[in-house]
Amino acid sequence: MKYEKLFQPVTMRGVVFPNRIQRTSMVSGLTTENGDVTEDLIKRYQREARGGVGALVVEAAVIIPSKSPYNLRISDDSFVPGLTNLVKGIREANKETRIGVQIMQHLKLAKSGWRQKVEDFKPEDLPKIIEDHVAAAKRALTAGFDFIEVHMAHAYVLSSFLSRSNKRTDGYGSSLQNRMKLPIEVFHAVRKLVGEKYPLGVRINGEDFVVQGNTVAQSGRIAAKFAELGADYISVSAGSRFEDALTPAEGNPPDPMSGYSGHRMSPWFWWPDGCHVYLSEGIRKAVRAAGFQTPVIIAGKIREPEHAEEILREEKADIIGLCRALLCDPDWPIKTKEGRDKEVVRCVACNWCLEADSRYEKVNCDRWPKPNLVAPEPFTASMASAGTFKKEYL
Ligand SMILES: Cc1cc2nc3c(=O)[nH]c(=O)nc-3n(C[C@H](O)[C@H](O)[C@H](O)COP(=O)(O)O)c2cc1C
Repeated sequence: MKYEKLFQPVTMRGVVFPNRIQRTSMVSGLTTENGDVTEDLIKRYQREARGGVGALVVEAAVIIPSKSPYNLRISDDSFVPGLTNLVKGIREANKETRIGVQIMQHLKLAKSGWRQKVEDFKPEDLPKIIEDHVAAAKRALTAGFDFIEVHMAHAYVLSSFLSRSNKRTDGYGSSLQNRMKLPIEVFHAVRKLVGEKYPLGVRINGEDFVVQGNTVAQSGRIAAKFAELGADYISVSAGSRFEDALTPAEGNPPDPMSGYSGHRMSPWFWWPDGCHVYLSEGIRKAVRAAGFQTPVIIAGKIREPEHAEEILREEKADIIGLCRALLCDPDWPIKTKEGRDKEVVRCVACNWCLEADSRYEKVNCDRWPKPNLVAPEPFTASMASAGTFKKEYL
């Protein structure tokens, strides 16, 4: 087979992932306003599973009661029946795809422009953060997910504890060792709940891309620590921090996507393909140097099967994360496996999808014929519109 590495299975705690392609977490805007699973959401993930992806991380599920409409929720037992239907639906579409969920606590925002910072949590608030992660993990287990990913990347609570921008003075901030303390406590507590036979991954920022943020010098050490603690994978993302966000227009909350850091999370068309691979390479080296074989996942404008295979062959990562490329063409894995890679409808990194999320709209792809909420089946390049993307922007 042409793409031998990509289609090599990987096993985590006895759970077999059929290939090295992971659909990384992607907020969809397809839930109800309250955060319940909808038919559209199930159809979106079923379509992706049918395309043969090895692991599918369902979008960031909010673990605390809060006002964040149209975000998937796992903050109460009442969400479990919907999540159970979601898992059942995806499994019916493809019984081999492993289904995970990303559990996430966000920092609060206000239309006045105020945003919560890690320094705002009192020491007595911290045990609740741990409890909420554990309660969410328990619901994920009940719903039948095959694995859980703890969200420690981007602009949220745990990533903000990890970041160099965390200036707490109570033993949970400032030095790297102290910044890791709460995320480690969360990880330990969730591991205790899920047990030793259940895959538990973490997603971290390889680089925050803000002056006061982490670089691979810190994220390598963070990854090595979680590998030591028994994380089953380290998923490497980047950016999406608030520290360099633009001042929001009056009446709008701050937007972590608005600054340079925000632009790095899902690199736009003017960045080279694979522009985050140096991060997984550095992190993987740090993890291996510490003596661990933990798989490292990299996402970030990886679009070509040849390129994905090369990253694996050159040992710069162990699993390829595809987010927008799979939204654009969910059949990327199966077309590639069957040697029909020329038929893959290429994501153009226009970020129509990302901007839809920022506009609080349903996330879809500009290349799909309108007004689809999933890619047509089958989906061919001749059916794809060039959408709003203009090559002259390059
Ligand atoms: C619309 C949209 C929503 C996203 N939502 C999440 C999310 O919920 N959690 C997360 O960790 N990353 C999220 N991401 C980041 C992606 O998982 C991925 O890391 C990033 O897009 C780079 O990969 P890509 O070039 O394959 O798209 C999102 C990206 C997009 C475009």
